[in-house]
Amino acid sequence: MRKNIVAGNWKMNKNLQEGIALAKELNVALVADKPNCEVIICTPFIHLASVADIVDPAVLAVGAENCADKVSGAYTGEVSAEMVASTGAKYVILGHSERRAYYHENVEILAEKTKLALANRLKPIFCIGEVLEEREANKQNEVVAAQLASVFSLSPEDFSKIILAYEPVWAIGTGKTATPEQAQEIHAHIRSLVAAKYGSEIAENTSILYGGSCKPSNAKELFANPDVDGGLIGGAALQVADFKGIIDAFK
Ligand code: 13P
Repeated sequence: MRKNIVAGNWKMNKNLQEGIALAKELNVALVADKPNCEVIICTPFIHLASVADIVDPAVLAVGAENCADKVSGAYTGEVSAEMVASTGAKYVILGHSERRAYYHENVEILAEKTKLALANRLKPIFCIGEVLEEREANKQNEVVAAQLASVFSLSPEDFSKIILAYEPVWAIGTGKTATPEQAQEIHAHIRSLVAAKYGSEIAENTSILYGGSCKPSNAKELFANPDVDGGLIGGAALQVADFKGIIDAFK
């Protein structure tokens, strides 16, 4: 059966010292009170090696927020999937709407990144989701279907390693959360697309996370939906009390 997962996305927050302190505090809290789900923190590149060293892998895993679409070489400023993996990170967020919007990452670039992540044994947390105008035009189902093209070229074996995250752009950092009904409806649609492509067994085993203004006060009702298998958390992942409150929604 698929796993329940709560993953934090720190985005461009926390300097190295602050990040280490946050990871330590979270690790202590989770060792003391074991989570009922998998917990991942996705941090800026510069934090990865230090944070991977601190966490107890029995309760907490580490991921990056991005990786390069090239193997290695003259790509100044880029960080490869192999480099990410060498820090001890096990996951990588790919296709976040902020990367799609501000850094022009498209279906083809994200297909390359996904392949390189998998080749380096990183599990992609692959993000999809529509913007407000697309939701208002009731186009969300076709938008997520088009975005999934980046991962639908994978072999069934490789696709089985992917975690999906549905993040409606209109809910990210806005305080406006999808209703549990909206989340369930589109998560079920996403699972049906996976089933049509890879069959029902792989679809049933794929974790689909919800992201967008998820907090301790709404996590339980979102995660209670049959097709919502946890969350990808931005702002509320930056304080242990809030993040732990969301993790505890699975208790
Ligand atoms: P917020 O939880 O801050 O809305 O961000 C969600 C997100 O983008 C996680 O990747």
